[in-house]
Amino acid sequence: MSARDYDLEPFWMPFTANRQFKAAPRIVVAAKDMHYTAEDGRKILDSSAGLWCVNAGHCREPIVRAIKQQAETLDFAPSFQMGHPGPFRLAQSIAQLAPADLDYVFFANSGSEAVDSALKIALAYHRARGEGQRTRLIGRERAYHGVGFGGMSVGGMTLNRKVFGAMLPGVDHLPHTHNLEQMAFSRGQPEWGAHLADELERIVALHDASNVAAVIVEPVQGSTGVIVPPKGYLEKLRAICDRHGIVLIFDEVITGFGRLGKAFAANYFGVIPDLISFAKGVTSATVPMGGVIARKHIYDAFMTGPEGIELFHGYTYSGHPLACAAGEATLALYHNEGLFENARTLSAHFEDGAHSLKGFPNVVDVRNLGLMAAIELAPRPGKPGARGYEALVRCFEAGIMIRTTGDILACSPPLIVSKSQVDEIFSKIGNVLKAIA
Ligand SMILES: Cc1ncc(COP(=O)(O)O)c(C=O)c1O
Repeated sequence: MSARDYDLEPFWMPFTANRQFKAAPRIVVAAKDMHYTAEDGRKILDSSAGLWCVNAGHCREPIVRAIKQQAETLDFAPSFQMGHPGPFRLAQSIAQLAPADLDYVFFANSGSEAVDSALKIALAYHRARGEGQRTRLIGRERAYHGVGFGGMSVGGMTLNRKVFGAMLPGVDHLPHTHNLEQMAFSRGQPEWGAHLADELERIVALHDASNVAAVIVEPVQGSTGVIVPPKGYLEKLRAICDRHGIVLIFDEVITGFGRLGKAFAANYFGVIPDLISFAKGVTSATVPMGGVIARKHIYDAFMTGPEGIELFHGYTYSGHPLACAAGEATLALYHNEGLFENARTLSAHFEDGAHSLKGFPNVVDVRNLGLMAAIELAPRPGKPGARGYEALVRCFEAGIMIRTTGDILACSPPLIVSKSQVDEIFSKIGNVLKAIA
């Protein structure tokens, strides 16, 4: 491959230790199906679907073709006060995949925008019904809901919150459900921990239910290291929200579009939220897109008020033609290739592969659900994250891309992954673990 013809310095990289990266960069220049190509020409097996998003695999021809055709036909059209067919068609397809009654789709351009939109819809829904005093939002520790002020406020990652001031007022957090003493090396949903949902009753009692607008959770917490909900936990949250008229939001930015072997985690768990935020897999990450799926009673509450703009919220690029074309082609590909089924069928083999790393040096937990798995390493004394980062670097050198959060290694491959590629992922990670102190 040719030498770099650009300077690394001016790009202020997100969520990256810029000085460390720029001193020893990892640059990819192309991708196809399950692999990236590094600038030195090496093939890198993508065990994290980019950032949990390339669910259909890289540079898939039907998606690329649809984007090209759309760019040549209608590059942009507003979705304010006029329309084009894309978002209407895509909304219908998404609603068909979502559980019954989740019938209405609002489009944004990222997971962060999707989450902020969902929180705003919940607040405005209560107001439309004459309960505008319901303003309190409840998130969860160790949650990641993006970087908008709404998502950050309900999120529970300290480093995402620490330097950005006071954020939204009126936010509480449920405890997270991760407890190594109780659930280390659980396969699938842990048996322990459903009682942690009862904390919601305590928070609601503190403020009085009449002041609480919404609860938002990732059905499986992704970015903080694949924290799988204990058996019965989500069901309890749903029941408590029902009892008190609270809107339940599932943030399915990672779990949506097949990650658990069903269209959404809501389908997988059989727990139906009032709103779902989505992004990533809807276009297999080819064009940025996010959005919110709403149940009928939510949409209807807006549509029965006075004539005029019912929801004063939207983005220039809501329903962007390229994103819609990519989304339609992606959903068709999921269907035509049976990719959600592939994820479902492979999940047992994937679970076995992940758990084969139990007993490897420094491994203190392995956990998984669907095609998501985490391998948690003990931190080096006084140096949290150092061991995880070394694992990431060495994996890349060994030809495999993983995702790390501190000392937790995460895998979430594209849904086209094969059995032998699953084996390759865990055997390469195993070799790396054996090589690092
Ligand atoms: C659950 C969840 N919500 C929201 C986001 C934010 O999405 P984006 O980075 O597209 O803004 C993410 C990103 O990883 C996520 O995992």
